[in-house]
This record gives sequence, structure tokens and C-alpha cells, in this order.
Amino acid sequence: MADVGESGGFEIRRLRSEDLDAVVAIEADAFTSPWDRETFAGLLERDSVELLVMDAAEEGIVGYAVLWCILDQGELANIALLPTWRGRGLGSHMLRHVMSVASERGVEKLFLEVRMSNHAALELYRSFGFSEVGVRRGYYQDPKEDASVMVATLDRTSEG
Ligand SMILES: CC(C)(COP(=O)(O)OP(=O)(O)OC[C@H]1O[C@@H](n2cnc3c(N)ncnc32)[C@H](O)[C@@H]1OP(=O)(O)O)[C@@H](O)C(=O)NCCC(=O)NCCS
Repeated sequence: MADVGESGGFEIRRLRSEDLDAVVAIEADAFTSPWDRETFAGLLERDSVELLVMDAAEEGIVGYAVLWCILDQGELANIALLPTWRGRGLGSHMLRHVMSVASERGVEKLFLEVRMSNHAALELYRSFGFSEVGVRRGYYQDPKEDASVMVATLDRTSEG
């Protein structure tokens, strides 16, 4: 699969308040128990959270990611693309960027949870060095499903 994410036209940048509607729409399409606008808006205020969007210029916001960083631990809370933009390498591009940002913030262990049935995401994470370290039984609703807890060890790129 070609990695179009490395080519021009896709900027990954911090979420701004005017991006909220687009991000909430992607979230609502991607997840059965989506976060609402207020949740995203509230996260904008938090220093420990990186809200990143993939801006495809004329097409607008096509994806986003939410990263929590607390000392040397991070959590990839969410990553999603609009359906028509999946399978083109953009998720990989976004995840690479998220891991780089996490590393710059001093994160050494990056955690995430993923539905056991989400093969696309599981494959993506495995290809970036994530491995399963646990299972949360019944973690998800609609439908109820276990979560795989995964972690990746990041290269240190932060100062100090
Ligand atoms: C998960 C998601 C962000 C991946 O983004 P993407 O742009 O589709 O992924 P990429 O095109 O970069 O693919 C990267 C790797 O993921 C895997 N992958 C992607 N789509 C896949 C699919 N439909 N089936 C199996 N593996 C798949 C492959 O290993 C692929 O590597 P390859 O290109 O060498 O085969 C995207 O599918 C998405 O938005 N899904 C809905 C939201 C979601 O489930 N988020 C994760 C919550 S934990």
C-alpha cells in the first residue's frame, strides 16, 4: 500500500476550535459511543493533551488523534480518519507523528486500548511496534467487547 502520507497536501497540526465540528463528525462516524463536542472542547484546555488533526487543505479535516502525556507515560486515546481516506497510509502517517510528539514530550511507554475485532487498527499498531500487555474484559459497549491493551516503547528524543 503506498504511503501517501509522506507526500504533500496533508498537514498534521494542533486542533483549533474551528476544527471541532469536523472532528466530532469523524468521531461519530467511527465509534459507537463517541465523545461529544464538549469533551473535545474541554480537552483543548489541558496541557497534558495533544489534539492533532490531519488537514487536507481543500478537503478539510480528514482525521484526528488524541494523545495524553503524563510524565514518561502516554496514552493514544483516539485516532480516526474519515472512511474514504482510510487504507491509503494516512493512519500510519498520523501514528508516526503522534509517536514522535509523545517522544518529544518525554513519553517512554505509549499505551492504548483497541477492540479485539478491530483488525485494521490492531495491524496498524503491531506494525508500529505495539504489543499486547493485557485485556480489559467488557471494556467497550455497543457492542460489548473486550479491549486489548497495547504498549510501545518509544525512542528518547526529548531534551533532558
Ligand atoms: C485505524 C485507522 C486510523 C487506520 O488508518 P488507515 O489510514 O486506514 O491505515 P493505513 O492505510 O496507514 O494502514 C496501515 C496498516 O494498518 C493495517 N490496515 C489498515 N487497514 C486495514 C484493513 N482494512 N484490514 C487489515 N489491516 C489494515 C495494515 O497493516 C496497514 O499496513 P499495510 O499498508 O502495510 O498493509 C483507520 O482505519 C480508522 O480511522 N478506523 C476507524 C477508527 C478506529 O478504529 N480507530 C482506532 C481506534 S483504537
